[in-house]
Amino acid sequence: MAIFSDNAVKETPKKHKNPITQSDSIEYDKTFENSIRPKSFEDYIGQSALIETLKISIEAAKKRNTPLDHMLFYGPPGLGKTTLAGVIAEQMGAAIKITSAPALERPRDIIGILMSLKEGEILFIDEIHRMNKVSEEILYPAMEDFSLDMTTGKSQTVKTMRIPLPKFTLIGATTKAGELSSPLRDRFGILKRLEFYTIDELAKVVTRTAGILNIDITEEGAKAIARRSRGTPRIANRLVKRVSDFAIVKYDGIINEDVAESSLDVLKIDEFGLDTTDRALLKLIIEKYDGGPVGIETLAAALSEDVRTLEDVCEPYLLQSGLLQRTPRGRKVSPEGYRHLGIKNIPVQGSLFD
Ligand code: ADE
Repeated sequence: MAIFSDNAVKETPKKHKNPITQSDSIEYDKTFENSIRPKSFEDYIGQSALIETLKISIEAAKKRNTPLDHMLFYGPPGLGKTTLAGVIAEQMGAAIKITSAPALERPRDIIGILMSLKEGEILFIDEIHRMNKVSEEILYPAMEDFSLDMTTGKSQTVKTMRIPLPKFTLIGATTKAGELSSPLRDRFGILKRLEFYTIDELAKVVTRTAGILNIDITEEGAKAIARRSRGTPRIANRLVKRVSDFAIVKYDGIINEDVAESSLDVLKIDEFGLDTTDRALLKLIIEKYDGGPVGIETLAAALSEDVRTLEDVCEPYLLQSGLLQRTPRGRKVSPEGYRHLGIKNIPVQGSLFD
């Protein structure tokens, strides 16, 4: 797999109090993540409905001898969008170039990548909702007609040149499909949402990763880690690594249910997979704002977190698990959220439109 590395723009990592349960990719464990990424559909666990339709699209493209349609994968971080793009490339027998929108700041960045592509190659752009307008407009004719529209000269003498590009497939990934402009969204032939994983699926991911790390794990041990992984394989994989450290140092090297649970307790990851930031968020809303609704900016300031971390990392799972609710006037803790924190004084719930 050819990885396009563009280090021109390096982002500062987002602040988060517990890097283990942070579902975005962080620099220090990229190597670990890459080493355990499944390379084929056989090894890819979960997202079964999506995988079935992708297999058909791939087979059809191969039979027609045409490139795959451009695809957009969206959903919370850590669910395997990059991994899936790699599997698709492998299945197509094509090289993949991987970059992200924040690294494509200048027009020449996107032009350079597009011109470096070869017939049938896959271009993966992560966080595609963060593309700037100019780069996005360069992408339109590239996606639609496989051409680059370049202008030369100034005002009166301006000339447009059309440069043909090889036929390629763009795979875009985003955690925020709603922030994509509609002209860009409309140019993708296949738009697919990645779903949170079930406990059983995550237990399979955990067992597979433990195997790669050469660590023994029982079925119950794998399930215990899976239960605390917030539906997210990236988190499950991180937890396997941390728990295996405990198993080797403090126990007999085998991860069973007890070892998994006591290690995760020490790491302050609770039975729902919530970490200290998640619990602090729920507690803050309950204790300072009577359970909400309260605006996200207020919460971010009170927790010294940035709004994007709360929105992209903490909230998707809290919302999905029903502990938190989003209303037009801000965030509210649900009765389940109160119960999860062991708080008995649950206010009578008003409407979701409060
Ligand atoms: N690691 C991360 N995502 C995975 C998946 N979907 N299947 C197997 N291993 C994974």
